[in-house]
Amino acid sequence: MIFGILNQKGGVGKTTLSVNLAACLARAGHRVLLIDADPQGSALDWAAARQGEPLFTVVGFPRPSIHKEIGLMGKGYDHIVIDGPPRVTDLARSAIMASDIVVIPVQPSPYDIWAADEVVKLIEEARVYKESIKSAFVVNRKITNTAIGRDVREALAAYPVHVLQASVTQRVVFAEAAAQGQAIFEIDAAGPAVAEIEAVAAELMEYAK
Ligand SMILES: Nc1ncnc2c1ncn2[C@@H]1O[C@H](COP(=O)(O)OP(=O)(O)OP(=O)(O)O)[C@@H](O)[C@H]1O
Ligand SMILES: [Mg+2]
Repeated sequence: MIFGILNQKGGVGKTTLSVNLAACLARAGHRVLLIDADPQGSALDWAAARQGEPLFTVVGFPRPSIHKEIGLMGKGYDHIVIDGPPRVTDLARSAIMASDIVVIPVQPSPYDIWAADEVVKLIEEARVYKESIKSAFVVNRKITNTAIGRDVREALAAYPVHVLQASVTQRVVFAEAAAQGQAIFEIDAAGPAVAEIEAVAAELMEYAK
């Protein structure tokens, strides 16, 4: 399965979700490749900050030809996660064309809900060439027991994109893990963040089938 984690808006959690989804799939015994398609190279920075054994392979490929190269690059892997860039349209287009499913992290804020319009349009355009591309929103940085946390799903339903039931709460452990190049299950194995990421991964695997 090829997961493209995309949103033209910056800072919504693309890299956080990419590394933790990749780590979660790797932990389950799959061979996983993470392609960092962002010129900022955040997923590569994450891998470089890591001490000890890598959990999965990370390569940088911030080029608008991912969709052409992915067949060769992905040989030997069970799953590929593409960490998309913010703003750069040609890279996002290529990453979308490379994907089986485009996963769009959105924060529970009206600005994020409006800004999702851009990536949804790019997916619609790509579907003209590749009808099979699926797409799903995942709410990230949800703050528990807030009205906006509940309303965001309703607001997102206006887009022609599936909204995952599973969502990810705002938790400092995500930033702490990132600083050490670790997956959250490595620093807080029994914590609720791990259960949330596992639920997102399981739901995505099921939906993308
Ligand atoms: N669920 C969360 N709880 C707490 N912090 C989070 C969560 N998700 C992301 N963050 C933090 O928010 C910041 C932005 O996240 P991240 O880098 O994953 O977003 P991005 O979409 O990849 O950004 P960019 O568009 O710049 O690539 C980071 O500091 C990250 O640690
Ligand atoms: Mg990023």
